[in-house]
Amino acid sequence: HNEEETVDNRLTQVCEVLQTTVGYYDWVGFYFANHGAKTLHLKAFAGEPTEHTVIPFGKGICGQVAESNENFMVPDVKAQNNYIACSIYTKAELVVPLFKDGKNIGQIDIDSHIADPFSEEDEKFLEWVNEKVAEILPQTL
Ligand code: SME
Repeated sequence: HNEEETVDNRLTQVCEVLQTTVGYYDWVGFYFANHGAKTLHLKAFAGEPTEHTVIPFGKGICGQVAESNENFMVPDVKAQNNYIACSIYTKAELVVPLFKDGKNIGQIDIDSHIADPFSEEDEKFLEWVNEKVAEILPQTL
């Protein structure tokens, strides 16, 4: 499907720009929710490939954000017990939900190899990125 390919390419470009321009963004990806199945699905990313392309709601930082609808900033991933490790180098993570028409339809996930690198600035910035991304998404993804 052509429209879906365009969206995937644009999302991948967004991931690549963020990952290459922000030094402490080592992995950047977009997961989207299947609300029926209660699973998250990796749609685009930049950085090392991950095995965790499907994540059940409630599992890991990503799965928790699918249910909480709130940003989840993790300064130290070792301090989390509900955490899914994607890379041995990841020290910190920030997940910000993506809303379309008020509905939590997915999220942007940032992994960092630096300990405690994120601030409220990153949250505000990624909320803005997600607002822009929501605008380019078709009604049915
Ligand atoms: N660490 C995430 C899983 C996704 S990987 O970071 C790419 C989590 O705990 O949900």
